[in-house]
Amino acid sequence: MKVVVSVGGSVLAPDLAADRVAAYGDVLVDLAADHEVAAVVGGGRVAREYIDAARQLGGNEIELDQLGIGVTRLNARLLGAAMEGPVKPPEEYDGAAEALRRDGLVVMGGVVPGQTTDAVAAALAEYVEADLLVYATSVPGVFDADPNEDPDAERYDRLPAAELVELVASGGSLGSAGSNAPIDLLAAKLVQRSGTRTLVLDGEDPDRVRGAVRDGDYDGTEIVPDGEVDP
Ligand code: UTP
Repeated sequence: MKVVVSVGGSVLAPDLAADRVAAYGDVLVDLAADHEVAAVVGGGRVAREYIDAARQLGGNEIELDQLGIGVTRLNARLLGAAMEGPVKPPEEYDGAAEALRRDGLVVMGGVVPGQTTDAVAAALAEYVEADLLVYATSVPGVFDADPNEDPDAERYDRLPAAELVELVASGGSLGSAGSNAPIDLLAAKLVQRSGTRTLVLDGEDPDRVRGAVRDGDYDGTEIVPDGEVDP
């Protein structure tokens, strides 16, 4: 199976602990024994801190995105170092796809300004025709409201891709800026377009990613390609 795993920066390195990065690296190497595995790493708190500081210094939004991309690539290097030894993460999809074909395992960060690594993961999944895309996030799935704000928020077990797009685009509590939408709009649209089978789960413990990929055992939300949904 060909798998793309999106590892949120706040999941991989909330506090830059080497053992957490090593645990993620171990799981990805382990999965790569049986599958082709591509990981896309986010920037987390460090990216936000750089972006906030640069905004105060008057940086424009593209410059801020470029700083964010830099941090995602640093995190990708860190995870790469925990796996097979440090290698320069590919900076675009061609290079990532080539490394995936060659090595069966690749890690990358951001690509271009104006998006997040959610979209990078969805685009890479589309590019390599992945069988499965896993979003390892800091929330345990897709909810109808922000679970941190609304105690009545309910999680979707299965959600058609078109409904995910609507939910994120509607700008409700799930999709508004600063909310806990686990996937951004561009990513949702790419998931819908490619029809990639997608899981959104709490990735704090990398074993959950292992279970989802290896055994199909997960606790989260499955985004189901349009047309494959029971009425
Ligand atoms: P993240 O993917 O980590 O953004 O990229 P995020 O979703 O805000 O962070 P998490 O999920 O909470 O960890 C960090 C920043 O890097 C820039 C954006 O500014 C983004 O907010 N970025 C990243 C890009 O501009 N392009 C990319 O392809 C990736």
